Amino acid sequence: MANKISHSCLVSKIAITLSIVSLLLCCGVFLRTDLMLNELYSRDIKLSDKMTSKHDMNDGHRFDKDHHSERTFEKQETKQTKDVFTRKVRDVTTVVNSTINDDLLSKKIHQVLGKAVASLQGGKYWIPVPGPPGSQGKPGPRGPRGRMGKSGRRGKRGPRGFPGKIGLPGSRGMAGPKGPKGDRGTSLARPTALISPTHLIVNESQSAILHCSSSGYPRPDVVWSKINGTLPRKRAVVDSWQTDIKHVTPNDSGIYQCKASNLLGSTQTTAKLQVNFHPRLTLDKRPIYRMGSNDIRLPMCYVIGHPTPKVMWSRVFGILPKGRSAMKDGQLTILKANQNDSGTYVCKAENLLGSVVGSIMVNVIDLPVFVVKPTSFYTAQRGTTAVLNCTAKGNPQPVISWRKDNGVLPVGRYEVKDGSLIIRNVKQIDSGVFVCTATSAGVSHSHENI
Ligand SMILES: *[C@@H]1O[C@H](CO)[C@@H](O)[C@H](O)[C@H]1NC(C)=O
Ligand SMILES: *[C@@H]1O[C@H](CO)[C@@H](O)[C@H](O)[C@H]1NC(C)=O
Ligand SMILES: *[C@@H]1O[C@H](CO)[C@@H](O)[C@H](O)[C@H]1NC(C)=O
Ligand SMILES: *[C@@H]1O[C@H](CO)[C@@H](O)[C@H](O)[C@H]1NC(C)=O
Ligand SMILES: *[C@@H]1O[C@H](CO)[C@@H](O)[C@H](O)[C@H]1NC(C)=O
Ligand SMILES: *[C@@H]1O[C@H](CO)[C@@H](O)[C@H](O)[C@H]1NC(C)=O
Repeated sequence: MANKISHSCLVSKIAITLSIVSLLLCCGVFLRTDLMLNELYSRDIKLSDKMTSKHDMNDGHRFDKDHHSERTFEKQETKQTKDVFTRKVRDVTTVVNSTINDDLLSKKIHQVLGKAVASLQGGKYWIPVPGPPGSQGKPGPRGPRGRMGKSGRRGKRGPRGFPGKIGLPGSRGMAGPKGPKGDRGTSLARPTALISPTHLIVNESQSAILHCSSSGYPRPDVVWSKINGTLPRKRAVVDSWQTDIKHVTPNDSGIYQCKASNLLGSTQTTAKLQVNFHPRLTLDKRPIYRMGSNDIRLPMCYVIGHPTPKVMWSRVFGILPKGRSAMKDGQLTILKANQNDSGTYVCKAENLLGSVVGSIMVNVIDLPVFVVKPTSFYTAQRGTTAVLNCTAKGNPQPVISWRKDNGVLPVGRYEVKDGSLIIRNVKQIDSGVFVCTATSAGVSHSHENI
């Protein structure tokens, strides 16, 4: 502990001593520097005087020689200075010589200062402090202009400018060549109308188109119409130059008129429309029963269609009786018919669009034949039962019926049994004419008796 304190005391003593020595050194140096600067100044004036005298001689060689001699002089001076300096260093504090060479002097100053500073730096109490920054120097002169740079990319196209003013009209050109003579102007004309085709045939459900070309001045109004009928509104497309009827029906057949009119009058023209259509047939289909050996007239087979259909009769099985059948206006007649003529008969209507058939059943029946004919004259006692026999046969089996001419059968006293008329309790009033009728499918045969 005591050792440490004594050590720090020694250090501070050395430091104080060093500080005093360096202070004295500095004072001496500044003094000497000032003296040397004065001498330098005086020497500079002397040198300049020498230089002026050398320049007056106007001889470069001499100047060089002189320069050389001056150098030599300088060298000698330097040697002397060195010697002096050597002495000086020995006793800096007491000796100051103003004749020392300036270079040497500065060197010396540096050396002495450097040593002093080094010795200070070697100590622990040297604190370097940077000086304040110098003031900014004046800006340098402007440099030469640089080379031109590369050209940049092409910019976007600018907006469209305002249109310029309209220029003055040009001078009038030469007159052109004379044109061809123009058409004669239209004069007033009565209307005309021409329809085509004048006769149109179409199949049903097709379209019918009639054209009407009209002329006249002023341009005439065209009106279409149907004679004794009306244009089908829903299916007809009508304009001034044509009528187009879609999906025609047989009713559309007829005369169509195109009428053109203007202020000078009117004219009309017509065309015929014919609609071909499938045949249609009407036939009473109820079966017929006719007695044999008579002529049988079959019902009428009504047929329409366009073109007018051909009508034919035939039998489903077999053929029409040769030589005994006749047809007139779609009606068939079987002459002197017999049982073999019974059967189904067919009426067929046909045109270019197709055919249609209708059929009818024909029954030829035999005339009933009386097997037992009642006696022509019969007399019965009053109060007795009278029996009047009557039987018949036929195909089909005939039905026997009785009646009394100019009167009625006695109510409650008669009956018909197996074709025989039985009258009980015969009275005077029962006298008269009794008729037996055999009926077979509507064909009857009567026989009278009293
Ligand atoms: C300084 O040096 C010169 C020669 O260079 C000498 O003549 C002169 O006596 C010296 N002065 C002193 C004070 O030593
Ligand atoms: C009408 O129909 C028939 C049969 O199909 C045919 O031959 C004819 O050419 C048609 N007519 C028209 C005008 O189409
Ligand atoms: C139109 O009908 C009238 C009378 O009903 C008749 O005289 C005339 O012939 C008919 N015209 C046509 C084209 O059918
Ligand atoms: C044709 O006209 C008649 C009457 O004139 C009518 O009864 C019939 O329905 C019409 N047919 C069609 C297909 O329009
Ligand atoms: C009916 O046909 C049959 C057989 O074909 C024939 O024998 C008979 O003579 C015919 N009757 C008449 C009335 O022609
Ligand atoms: C009617 O027929 C019956 C038998 O069928 C017969 O006995 C009777 O005499 C007949 N009458 C006459 C009037 O012929």
